[in-house]
Amino acid sequence: MKAIKPPLIVINFKAYPASVGSQAVQLAQNMEKVAQEYSITMIPAVQHADIYRVSNEVNLPVFAQSLDLIESGAKTGWVTLQSIKEAGAQGSLINHSEHPLTLTAIETLTEGLKKENLLQLICAPSAKTSAAIAHFEPWAIAMEPPELIGGDISVTTRPDVIKETIAEIKAVNKNSLILTGAGVKTGEHLLTALELGTQGVLLASGVTKAKDPYKVLVELAQYALKSLET
Ligand code: G3P
Repeated sequence: MKAIKPPLIVINFKAYPASVGSQAVQLAQNMEKVAQEYSITMIPAVQHADIYRVSNEVNLPVFAQSLDLIESGAKTGWVTLQSIKEAGAQGSLINHSEHPLTLTAIETLTEGLKKENLLQLICAPSAKTSAAIAHFEPWAIAMEPPELIGGDISVTTRPDVIKETIAEIKAVNKNSLILTGAGVKTGEHLLTALELGTQGVLLASGVTKAKDPYKVLVELAQYALKSLET
């Protein structure tokens, strides 16, 4: 496993037909190819049922998309920490806008992931919630305005919100990596996010619904490299 260092490109596979099952493996293999060629960190966040097969097929840090607040034991139909770890996950998204949790649940899951040496990428819909989450000192926080998710307007058209998020998080803790997402589709979007002070992006449809996902991944990697040159 290569070191996970910024700039980070996290692709949320969500439940898109083109990024589930064997197609999840194919997309992750494309990510691996680009990550290796450009020496850029790419993280696939896949469906729980795909964690095992994807992590067996690629040398990338595979993440779960969520986790249930549940202890191992006589419980049925829940996703436990132990199950994602045993399946090969290196971390998990928590509190995505499409899978929101209470702050208490976020704190407990963050602690649980830390204890198991799994990375915690906590999503937040705003600067204020990002600041509240920063108190839990997660590995990374991704701010995504819900109204822009899945659309054609990139979060990077709102530089003030991104700057505010960074300031709010840093006022609480200076260690968490800061990502942003929603509507991010191009290398320019990624570069803007990085220039504004984030350490990467969390995106989905720009890759999972692209005609040629490989081409988009290459563009993202090229702009990530460009950010390192400046
Ligand atoms: O988790 C990433 C996601 O919510 C952003 O989605 O499709 O706007 O890139 P999208």
